[in-house]
This record gives sequence, C-alpha cells and structure tokens, in this order.
Amino acid sequence: MHRTVDYVQGKVLLIDQTRLPHELVILELETPEEVADAIKTMKVRGAPAIGVAAALGIALAARSAPARDLQSASAEAEDPEEILRRVERAAHVLRNTRPTAVNLFWGIERMLKAARECARKKHDAAKIKEVLEQTARAMVEEDEQVCRKIGEHGAKLMPDYGHVLTHCNAGALACVAYGTALGVIRAAVEAGKRVHVYADETRPRLQGMKLTAFELVQDGIPVTVITDNMAGSLMRAGRIDCVVVGADRIAANGDVANKIGTYSVAVLAHHHGIPFYVAAPTSTIDFSLASGDEIPIEERPHDEVTHIDGKRICPVGADVINPSFDVTPASLVTAIITEKGIAYPPYKQSLRA
Ligand code: MRU
Repeated sequence: MHRTVDYVQGKVLLIDQTRLPHELVILELETPEEVADAIKTMKVRGAPAIGVAAALGIALAARSAPARDLQSASAEAEDPEEILRRVERAAHVLRNTRPTAVNLFWGIERMLKAARECARKKHDAAKIKEVLEQTARAMVEEDEQVCRKIGEHGAKLMPDYGHVLTHCNAGALACVAYGTALGVIRAAVEAGKRVHVYADETRPRLQGMKLTAFELVQDGIPVTVITDNMAGSLMRAGRIDCVVVGADRIAANGDVANKIGTYSVAVLAHHHGIPFYVAAPTSTIDFSLASGDEIPIEERPHDEVTHIDGKRICPVGADVINPSFDVTPASLVTAIITEKGIAYPPYKQSLRA
C-alpha cells in the first residue's frame, strides 16, 4: 500500500482517509496551512501519522513561503531569520489542530529543536532548509521502522489460532506504514500465526470499519467487523483471546488515552480475564503527565454523532456530546508494547526503564 504520509519532490503526500474505503485518493500538499487543515479535518489521523505530518508541514514552511506570497517572499526567502520565523508560525498553526495525541507535539518540538540548533550554528538559508527537510524525512523512515519493532515484540503475545479484538484504527493508516496494534497482528501473521481479527466499528467516525477492515482485507488477514456494543457478548462466549489497541497519549503512570470506547473494552476484558494490550511508540509516552487525568480530551463537532456520512440520523432537538478519546487506567492494561520492548506493571518504573 502507498505510505499514509510521505514527502516527495517538495510536497507532502497524504492518503485522504475521509475517502476510504471507497476511493484511494492521494493529496499533494504544499503549505503548512494545508497540512494543518488535513489534520483538523482528519484527512490524516492517528497519533504517529499526525506527528510525522506536522513535522513535514514545518519542512514545507522552511522550504518556501505560501504561493500567494511568493513575489514578496522571493527576496526574504534566503534570509535565515525569516525562515525561522516561518517555522515558528507554522508550529503554532499545527499545534492548534488536535489536542490529545502527544505525537503531534513531539513531531513539532523535534523540528523546532532542529531549527533552533540551525540558528545557534548560524546556518545560512539553504542549510536550514536542508536540515529541516532531512529531519522530517528521517521521521518518515523511523516511523515505519519503529512500527516493525513494535510488531516484532508484540507478535510473541499474540495467540496462534486466536481471535484478537481491536478498536479504532491503529494500523498503517494511523502511522506512516505497518501500524502499531495492527503492526503486532501483521508481525504475528508474518511469523506464521493464524490470527482472526474482530474490528470494533468505532462510532462516531467508524475508523474500525472504514479503515481497519480496509487494511486487513487488503492484506488478506481475516477480519470480522462488529458494532461497538457486541464485544462484551463475544468475550462472554469465549470468542476473544486478547485485545490490542493503539494509544494517543500514555501518562507516566501507564494510563492510556485512546479512541473513545477503548475504556469500555478494557473494562470488559478485565471482567472476562482477557489480556488487554496497548501498542505504541515511545513517542506516545508523555512523562510530563503524572496520570491520565491530566490528558486533554478533544471534543469534536457534534455532527459526527448526529450524522452518518452526511445524513442526519439523530432527531433535531436532542443534545449530544462527542469526546473523541477516553482514558483507560493503567490497572486495566496487561502490557504496553513499544519499539524498545514490552513494559509490564508497575508502569511508573517499567516505562522509564
Ligand atoms: O481520532 P483518530 O482517528 O486520530 O484516533 C486514532 C486513535 O485513537 C488510534 O487508536 C491512536 O491514534 C493510535 S494510532 C497508532
């Protein structure tokens, strides 16, 4: 499959996830504002993918001024100070897109650090552009390698001839390629294990049905889509061997923010004695937050709940809420699978290690 996020000939290429599974459309973006809009409107989504997209957006900011400013910018374009100002402005715009996934801020900070280092070394304009492009490109490559490492570690935990439940999309489409939770499943299949996936549809935006099922069908991995209210019944019937999900932010104590509904799945898994695994890169761990209570939870537009594919299904006059993420307490998490290895409770110690 095409990489979810890529950088080719000075443009950021993104798979438009709002068009899947019906159409595979690749967007070509040339400004940080376009990248920010793609993140906000969820054309690109998933914690690692938005982190890398934001970094590439900053590389675009360094590269050139927006097309409409080209005339005035051509003179300033070679002024290192102006490039650094553009980079800071782009960082500000990108930071204000989505609040929960820490990878977004991680990606932006890494680029800002590289830019400030350029300023400290008094690099000229050409060198600053080169360094920022290289830094962002490296993040594209690293993301895929990190996912493969997560897969390698996590595959050992997957059952053979087993049924694995996942929630939302933590696959190739949520990263540059391969995926975190789906990376674990892919690696288990590559290692010869026979895994059948149950994918929660994941209302309101249906990432499980539209994206996870799409990816798995493409890869020939058996997948059954269920509505979000079916998981408990399947667990009670002994039809689920383990759960593996991704994460948007993990606090220092191991509390995990992920797509709304993850907490309910974790409670059900705990009740039925089923392992509940979280697969995420270490860039998703936010050591500055002591617990999940401090994780900002994004409230998304209400029409995501009241409408499906543009059609209103909720009576006018009914109130709705739309928190996009929830927090699963560490006590419900069996293990956290990262590219550096598998962390077990107590997470305060194991995550740092
Ligand atoms: O709102 P989304 O689609 O960006 O939410 C995505 C998730 O919750 C994923 O599970 C998470 O980002 C992990 S992706 C590897």
